[in-house]
Amino acid sequence: MAFKNRENFGRIGAVLAAAGSAVGLGNIWRFPIETGRNGGAAFVLVYIVCVIVLGLPVMISEFMIGRSTQSNTAAAYRKLSPGTQWKWVGRLGVLTGFLIFSYYSVVAGWTVEYAGYALTNVFARESDYKQMFSDFASNPFWPVLWLFVFMFITHVIIVRGVKSGIEKVSKILMPTLFLLIMMLVFCAITLPGSGPGIDFIVRPDFSKINGMVVLSAMGQAFFSLSIGMGCLCTYASYFRPDTNLTRSAVNVASIDTMIAIMSGFIIFPAAASAGYMLTADDVGPSLIFITLPHVFQQAFSGAPILAYVFSVMFYLLLILAALTSTISMHEVITAYLKEEFEMSRKKAARIVTCSCAFLGIFCALSFGVLSGFKLMDMTIFDWFDFVSSTILLPFGGMLISIFTGWYLNKRLMYDELTNYGTVRVRYFKVLVFILRFVAPVAIGFIFFNELGFFDVFS
Ligand code: PHE
Repeated sequence: MAFKNRENFGRIGAVLAAAGSAVGLGNIWRFPIETGRNGGAAFVLVYIVCVIVLGLPVMISEFMIGRSTQSNTAAAYRKLSPGTQWKWVGRLGVLTGFLIFSYYSVVAGWTVEYAGYALTNVFARESDYKQMFSDFASNPFWPVLWLFVFMFITHVIIVRGVKSGIEKVSKILMPTLFLLIMMLVFCAITLPGSGPGIDFIVRPDFSKINGMVVLSAMGQAFFSLSIGMGCLCTYASYFRPDTNLTRSAVNVASIDTMIAIMSGFIIFPAAASAGYMLTADDVGPSLIFITLPHVFQQAFSGAPILAYVFSVMFYLLLILAALTSTISMHEVITAYLKEEFEMSRKKAARIVTCSCAFLGIFCALSFGVLSGFKLMDMTIFDWFDFVSSTILLPFGGMLISIFTGWYLNKRLMYDELTNYGTVRVRYFKVLVFILRFVAPVAIGFIFFNELGFFDVFS
């Protein structure tokens, strides 16, 4: 079944590339927001349970599907279930990738502008960060330009291919990202007055756990682990036959969770030191663009040079994290076009970049020129985010667990997990049980909740 000349990730490259996909704006931007909204440490605990019980099994499923078929996500399902409608799960993933790449790159572009502000020390001179953000986001030129720049950089890496593009870049960016985040955590937790912020994420208040907290944690786990759209399935198609799928999944999920928690250890202590308790009211999508610049200036008000260094490192961290994620979204679609329509990687990548850049323009402008263009009170950007992350990702995840739990041949699954008898697997029955019963029901719950069916929880 394997493509003869299919490129392969090395052992470490496989984990770093998949971790690169997982670690992104979801960890550094969305996780602290969700933690703040949902009561701190208690949310973190529930989140960890969701990653282990739901995230890992679905991730392992995507790995099995991708590696066993050695193909793009659409072809993978077709090969595993010829003549059935399951092929739509793969195609849905490609469509989701298309939408996510288009709007995610807008926010990724903003991080470039903000890294520029940090570098030129604009934060020290400004005082109205809210106005600054809205002036920038509503500008018809700069956000679009940065969107293009971000997509172009992603494009250049994708064109270089799996080994010398994706793998090489992941091997450089991921350790850099790790180093940056460790330095930032160190600075943040040693700030005077950071104590209450640390307490907020380490001292769980179990009375805060309710249905809504659990559902938000599940939703966040899916987005953050990049599962539900064939991203990890596509990457796994480049894994070698001797890559240990379970171990890789455990590594990726651990790295992702660790980085998310570390982001919490940057943001909450820094905020506490600046006199903020970031709880429900002050956290929202604008957290890293409006609240944090202020927090950094305040927290380091005694040492402006540290405020400068901290801000530069933080926005650089965001750029790196976003880039390794956009690469993985791009690759899902590029691999699909390249293999299904038999075109060169270059041509496939060009089509993806141009069409997503086109869609991205509308998302970027929906904060300014097109902001009046609303449907059901949501802008174009909101719709892209809602349809892809809130509807399609959980829906895809649910279908994947049903596919592997109920349809996929168990012998094939066992062979994939044990690398044809060379690795011991003791948890097989538990995995199948979760994929059959637990995951579809739980994910179905997130899904219908996000569509507003369970308002009783809120
Ligand atoms: N996991 C990425 C993040 O945390 C987002 C993502 C979602 C990437 C889906 C690829 C696919 O930012």
